[in-house]
Amino acid sequence: MKTSILTCLCLAAFTLVSAQTTTQTCIPLIGDNAPKFTAQSTEGEIKFPENYFGKWKILLSHPADFTPVCSSEMIELAKLSKDFAELNTQLIVISTDGINSHMEWIRAMEDIKFEDGSSVKIDFPIISDVGLEVSKKYGMIQPNFSSTKDIRAVFFIDPEDKIRALFYYPATTGRNYWEIKRTLIAMQTADKNYVLTPANWNPGDDAMIPNPATKAESEKMLEKDKKDENIYSRSWFMWYKKLEK
Ligand code: BEZ
Repeated sequence: MKTSILTCLCLAAFTLVSAQTTTQTCIPLIGDNAPKFTAQSTEGEIKFPENYFGKWKILLSHPADFTPVCSSEMIELAKLSKDFAELNTQLIVISTDGINSHMEWIRAMEDIKFEDGSSVKIDFPIISDVGLEVSKKYGMIQPNFSSTKDIRAVFFIDPEDKIRALFYYPATTGRNYWEIKRTLIAMQTADKNYVLTPANWNPGDDAMIPNPATKAESEKMLEKDKKDENIYSRSWFMWYKKLEK
C-alpha cells in the first residue's frame, strides 16, 4: 500500500515537472543577461550571443512565414538593415517555421518588385526554432495566443549582452521599425552622454539630465551650470542638455 502511494506521488511529481519543462515560457527582464542559445538559421548555426561579440543585437520574433503582416515587417526591416549595421547592431529574426520555409520566403520577398522598380535584400539571419527552445527562453510563446507560434517580440541586447529593452506586440499589429531604430539610438545616446531622453525624443533633439532631489539643490545646480550654455531647466525638476550635433 505504502509503495503504491509513493509510486503515485512520484508519478504525479514527474508529470508536473515534465509538463512545466515542456510548456514553461519565461520572459527575460531588463538588466538580465541575455539567455544563451545555439540555433540553426538561414545563415548557418548561430551561437548567441557569442557570435556577436561587442555589438548591439536586436532579436525579433514573428508568428509565421508567408503571412501578410510578417512579410511587410521583413521588407521594412530589410530597408533599414544598413542603418542598423551603421549603429553597430546585428538584426536576428526568429520564428518556429523550418529553414526550408524561411529560405523560400526570403526568395519570394526578394523577388517582389516595388512601384519604383526597387527590391529588397534580406541580409540578416532568420532562425528556425521548430523545437521552441529559444522562443520559450525569451517568452515568445504565449499560450493564449499559440502554443506553437511566436508572438511578435523585440529584444534589445547591448554589447555586454544585457537585455536593455523589450517590446511585445500581438500578431495582428505590425511593429514600427522607425520606433525600434529610435529606441536603439536613444539608448546608445544615453550611454554615450550620460543623459536621459524625453518623451518623443528624436536624434538631434535636446536630452535631459537627472533631476536634483530638491528645489534647494536645483538652485545650487543653477548657480553651477549658469556658465554652461548647453544646460537649461524648464522647472526645478526638469533639466535639459543640448548635445553636440
Ligand atoms: C500575419 O503576419 O499577417 C499574421 C500572422 C499570424 C496571425 C495573424 C496575422
